[in-house]
Amino acid sequence: MVDSRASGGYRVFSLLDRDGPEPAPGQFYMLAAESHWEQRGGRPFLPRALSVADLSSPAARSSFVDDSPTNSERGGVQLDFLIEGVGPGTDRLCELEVGERVWLNGPLGNSFSMPRELSAGAAGAILVGGGIGIAPLAIWRKRLAAANVPARVLLGFRDERHSGGLDDLFACCEVALASDDGHVGHHGHVTDLLSAMLEGDDAKTAVVYACGPPQMLDAVAALCSSREVACELAMESPMACGYGACYGCAVPRGDGTYLRLCVDGPVVRA
Ligand SMILES: Cc1cc2nc3c(=O)[nH]c(=O)nc-3n(C[C@H](O)[C@H](O)[C@H](O)COP(=O)(O)OP(=O)(O)OC[C@H]3O[C@@H](n4cnc5c(N)ncnc54)[C@H](O)[C@@H]3O)c2cc1C
Ligand code: FES
Repeated sequence: MVDSRASGGYRVFSLLDRDGPEPAPGQFYMLAAESHWEQRGGRPFLPRALSVADLSSPAARSSFVDDSPTNSERGGVQLDFLIEGVGPGTDRLCELEVGERVWLNGPLGNSFSMPRELSAGAAGAILVGGGIGIAPLAIWRKRLAAANVPARVLLGFRDERHSGGLDDLFACCEVALASDDGHVGHHGHVTDLLSAMLEGDDAKTAVVYACGPPQMLDAVAALCSSREVACELAMESPMACGYGACYGCAVPRGDGTYLRLCVDGPVVRA
């Protein structure tokens, strides 16, 4: 752990993966604290799945970490995660302190596709995030910008306590906000913003990328289907292994078969 800070009601923490390859946007890691990863002295928890929210190479990092010899000597990839404490595993990861070691397995799963891979005439991207689901969209927005693909970002939060990550992960980018309680942006659901945006002629060829709570993803998928707009969803299900061995993450498809979200996802075509 090289950094950890509060970000609204969430936390952003950064790990240095000395050996690992760079993750692609949409991929995730299984994480466990090296120490005190147990419940009241009992059995250790399984690792927990977290999407990578940002990454930086040693060169890019040198602008925002201290330039002590230890930092400048670091190799590898710095991975940033956005986390909300919702239970024992995420609470423990929120408590991690700088210098603590973390067990890390990844990058795992698949990644988002470029707009033209999903829709031949696609002009741009619309990113729709809800709550802690904004995490993988942050790294995806950066990747789209690097590829000169125009992207519009719509983010929604339940209330102030369940929001964060904007200044840390979406700075330098115009974001349209919505909140269920009206504390910021549009008073209502982020899907209201999407619906209005999809009315515009320029949105007809866009591709929508969404991550958030299941009800939000259902609403996004329905909207995109009714307007015939291509759409990818980054989904979640409880994961025990993260690499296809336990079938704990299986979710049913419309045709009666199942997919393992850790290897067939987490990104799926709506
Ligand atoms: C691919 C993937 C990426 C994720 N990315 C992030 C991220 O970037 N940031 C973040 O904060 N969280 C993320 N999560 C969710 C995170 O893994 C869970 O919140 C965490 O495992 C909960 O563990 P816990 O011990 O804190 O709480 P638990 O006590 O295990 O769970 C708390 C509550 O959440 C429910 N729950 C736990 N895991 C899931 C899940 N995966 N889907 C739906 N409900 C669940 C439980 O049933 C329970 O009601 C991601 C999950 C997946 C599968
Ligand atoms: S989490 Fe074990 S098979 Fe997907």
